[in-house]
Amino acid sequence: MIIANENFGKLASSYLFSEIGKRVNEFKNENPDAKIIRMGIGDVTLPLPKACIEAMHKAVDEMGSASTFRGYGPERGYDFLIRKICDYDYRRHGIKIDTDEVFISDGAKSDTGNITDILGHDCIVAVTDPVYPVYVDTNIMAGRKEGIVYLPCTAENNFVPELPVGDVDVIYLCFPNNPTGTTLTHDQLKKFVDYAIEHKSLILFDAAYEAFISSEDVPHSIYEISGAKSVAIEFRSYSKTAGFTGTRCSYTVVPKECIGYGLDGKEYSFNELWNRRQCTKFNGTPYIVQRAAEAIYSESGREQVRQIIDYYKTNATIIRNALISKGYTGVYGGVDSPYVWVKTPEGTDSWGFFDYLLKEKAIVSTPGAGFGSSGEGYIRLTAFNTTENTVEAMNRI
Ligand code: MLT
Repeated sequence: MIIANENFGKLASSYLFSEIGKRVNEFKNENPDAKIIRMGIGDVTLPLPKACIEAMHKAVDEMGSASTFRGYGPERGYDFLIRKICDYDYRRHGIKIDTDEVFISDGAKSDTGNITDILGHDCIVAVTDPVYPVYVDTNIMAGRKEGIVYLPCTAENNFVPELPVGDVDVIYLCFPNNPTGTTLTHDQLKKFVDYAIEHKSLILFDAAYEAFISSEDVPHSIYEISGAKSVAIEFRSYSKTAGFTGTRCSYTVVPKECIGYGLDGKEYSFNELWNRRQCTKFNGTPYIVQRAAEAIYSESGREQVRQIIDYYKTNATIIRNALISKGYTGVYGGVDSPYVWVKTPEGTDSWGFFDYLLKEKAIVSTPGAGFGSSGEGYIRLTAFNTTENTVEAMNRI
C-alpha cells in the first residue's frame, strides 16, 4: 500500500488563489462579455524593464554559441548577480552581507515554502493572522499543523502583531505586509529581533515588497536592526519590483552567524543547511533570467524599476483615496505597499463582498478570510492593474 502524506488532508481544500481563479473562470463563462478588472492575486501588468529585456536577448545569444553557452550554473547563483545584490541592496544601505550568504532562486514563494526543510519537525511556528497562505500550508504539509501559533493583526492593534506568548521557535514576518499592506517601524521590528535573540528563535523575514517603502521609519531589511543577522533569514523577490512574476527570480539571505539547535543543543549553521538543501534539490535559476535580474542594478535598470514602482504606488493612492472618499471607514495599507486592505461594508463578510464585487462590478478582489480568521470582514485590492483599469474599478464601486 502506498502511504500518502496525510498532512495534506489537514490543508484547506484548495490554495486560496486557485479557488479565486476557479470562481472568476465560472463568472467569465457565464458572462463572456463582462470586462473583468483583476485586483485579486498580486500579479503585475507592466512589461519587464527594457534593461532586463536587452540583457535577456544578449544572454539568449550567448546560449546559442558554443563558446559562450552555459549548462548547469552554480546552485546558489551566479557571482555577477550576487555581487550586485551585496553591493546595491545591502552595502549601500550600511549592511554587510557576504557573497556566500546570498542564494539566488526562482521565487520567494518557493523559498519561503522550501525553508521548512531546514527546520526541525517539532518547531513551534508563529505566523501573523492574516498571513500569506504559503507559510501556513507548507508547515502543515510538513506535519506541524498543531505547532502553529497565530499572532492577530487587526485594526485594534494597528496591524502590529504582539510578541508571541512564551517560547516559539520560528516567526514568519512579512513587512510591508501581505495581505494588509501595513508596515512595522524600526522599533516595532526590533522587539521581534530582541525576542528572537532571547528565545533563540529564528525569524523568517519576507521582504518581497521592500521596494514599495517610501516612509522614513520603515526598515527595508531586517538586518538594519542590530543583532538580526544572528536570528533572521531574509527573502527578497524581483517579482513585484521588476515584473518578474512570470520570469521568476528572487534571493534569500542566510547569514553565516544564524544558528539553529538540535534537540541535544548541538549547533547547526542555517547557511550550511540551506546550501546543502539547495545543492541537493535545486539546479539554479536559469542563466538568462539571472542576467535579466543583474540588469535591474544598472543605471537604466534602476531608473526603469523606479518608474514601475511609482506607477503602482500611484494606483495604490488612487484606490485608497477613492475608497475613503466613498465613505469606506476601514482602508489600510497602500502607502508603502501595493496592497490595500479594506473593511467590508456592515453586514457583509469577506467572501460575500468578494462575490458582490465579482458578480455586480466585475472586479476581482481577494477575500481577507482566505488569509486567516483575522482577515474575516476584509478584502484585499492590489495596485498591480493599469491606472486606467484602477480608475475604472474605483468608479464602478
Ligand atoms: C499574492 O497575491 O498574495 C501574491 O501574488 C502571491 C505570491 O506572490 O505568490
